[in-house]
Amino acid sequence: MNPSDVTPASSLIPRTVASSQSEMTEIVLPNDTNVLGNLLGGRLMHFIDMTGAMAAYRHARTYMVTASMDHIDFIRPVHLGDLVILRSSVNRAFTTSMEVGVKAWTEAPQTGELLHVASAFLVFVAIDKEGRRVRVPEVIPETAEEQRHYADALLRREHREAEHARRKQEKLAHAPLEDAAAAEPPAQ
Ligand SMILES: CC(C)(COP(=O)(O)OP(=O)(O)OC[C@H]1O[C@@H](n2cnc3c(N)ncnc32)[C@H](O)[C@@H]1OP(=O)(O)O)[C@@H](O)C(=O)NCCC(=O)NCCS
Repeated sequence: MNPSDVTPASSLIPRTVASSQSEMTEIVLPNDTNVLGNLLGGRLMHFIDMTGAMAAYRHARTYMVTASMDHIDFIRPVHLGDLVILRSSVNRAFTTSMEVGVKAWTEAPQTGELLHVASAFLVFVAIDKEGRRVRVPEVIPETAEEQRHYADALLRREHREAEHARRKQEKLAHAPLEDAAAAEPPAQ
């Protein structure tokens, strides 16, 4: 089914970046940490996913699935008791998907000093209750920074698509070998 068939036209009015920007603050508790008392990378990725989904949800006002999270560097450790501040913005909307940028800082509770700890770009796909993909409204980038993110998001999408096609090609190239290996009887 075409995504436009299940999307009411009224929900496709373009929206500004500011209208869906989101923020989440978490305190690092013992359950979130490794044996050194630092925040687990997977936990931080979860916070990033949640904060990204909030902006995507506010932009499209429908259910979301995470389609991808780009490369992520953990720049510095986050310690037990630190506050983690995450901010997200929809950089650009395509047909049924949106690229969302999320940036995370740690705030030392005693001093209030903010340090950048990680950033990531995620792609969310909008779906309805039945899991069918639905169209999303366009994004209106207003500031110079938003316009830069908007332009870059298209380049990143092209890069993701090229990378996806390359991996598919690579998989196809290795498929006959894998099939042959699978067909061989197990060694006695
Ligand atoms: C993401 C998902 C909906 C894509 O479905 P699909 O049938 O492969 O859809 P298509 O290939 O037609 O692509 C649909 C849209 O998703 C985008 N997309 C699909 N796979 C993507 C990926 N890996 N990275 C970024 N975008 C992706 C496409 O660019 C397209 O965007 P557009 O409509 O804006 O042009 C599907 O793969 C899915 O449900 N995945 C599981 C999601 C999930 O459970 N997330 C939680 C992870 S634990």
